[in-house]
Amino acid sequence: MNQHRYKAVIFDLDGVITDTARFHYLAWKRLADEVGAPFDEAFNEHLKGVDRMGSLALILARAPRTFTDQEKLLLADAKNRHYQELVATMTPEDLLPGALRALEEARAAGLKIGLASVSKNAFTVLDRLGIRGRFDDVVDAATIANSKPHPEIFLTAASHLGVAPADCLGVEDAAAGVASIKDAGMTAVGVGDAQVLARADYNIPAMDRFRLADYL
Ligand code: BG6
Ligand code: MG
Repeated sequence: MNQHRYKAVIFDLDGVITDTARFHYLAWKRLADEVGAPFDEAFNEHLKGVDRMGSLALILARAPRTFTDQEKLLLADAKNRHYQELVATMTPEDLLPGALRALEEARAAGLKIGLASVSKNAFTVLDRLGIRGRFDDVVDAATIANSKPHPEIFLTAASHLGVAPADCLGVEDAAAGVASIKDAGMTAVGVGDAQVLARADYNIPAMDRFRLADYL
């Protein structure tokens, strides 16, 4: 047993461990351009942490026409294929600065390590980065009914790790993700714009500023 304030650290993936948030942005941007929907970085912020069909619905709500369910599935598939082409170029070099150290610090402190990403590509991304084995639990997004900001995915991670939510530190780059952590009853580290991530208990501009000792 460790003597620390927390027993587990649960990380988001996209935008925390690696910059796949950029790949999601590029893939959604191409789709938005194709359907004539306005799309920029500010709007993209609202998609972070939101699952694939939920993100598509937000984009298509701003398109000049409506889409059938079949068209939506085709669009989501096309976006995902584009995203997977980008992910296929990834290597362990694509870990964000500070991400590996954060995982090592958590391990050295004797804390459990979980991953809570609503991405159905999370296992592939972890494998590309070569870090799947560093997690005690990776929640399978296919088993999650409610996307962030709902707390389900962080609560599921805590339950898999056998740790009470109050004993978990969550790390997120999205407002929806910070809401998910807080509504799960956990402590949140927000990575990125402190105004966007105002509900976080701690804010850092990027993972290279993550020091586990600051929170223990
Ligand atoms: C989240 C990203 O991690 O995963 C979202 O922040 C993305 O931008 C979501 O839409 C779903 O990802 P995927 O890989 O299942 O389409
Ligand atoms: Mg994220």
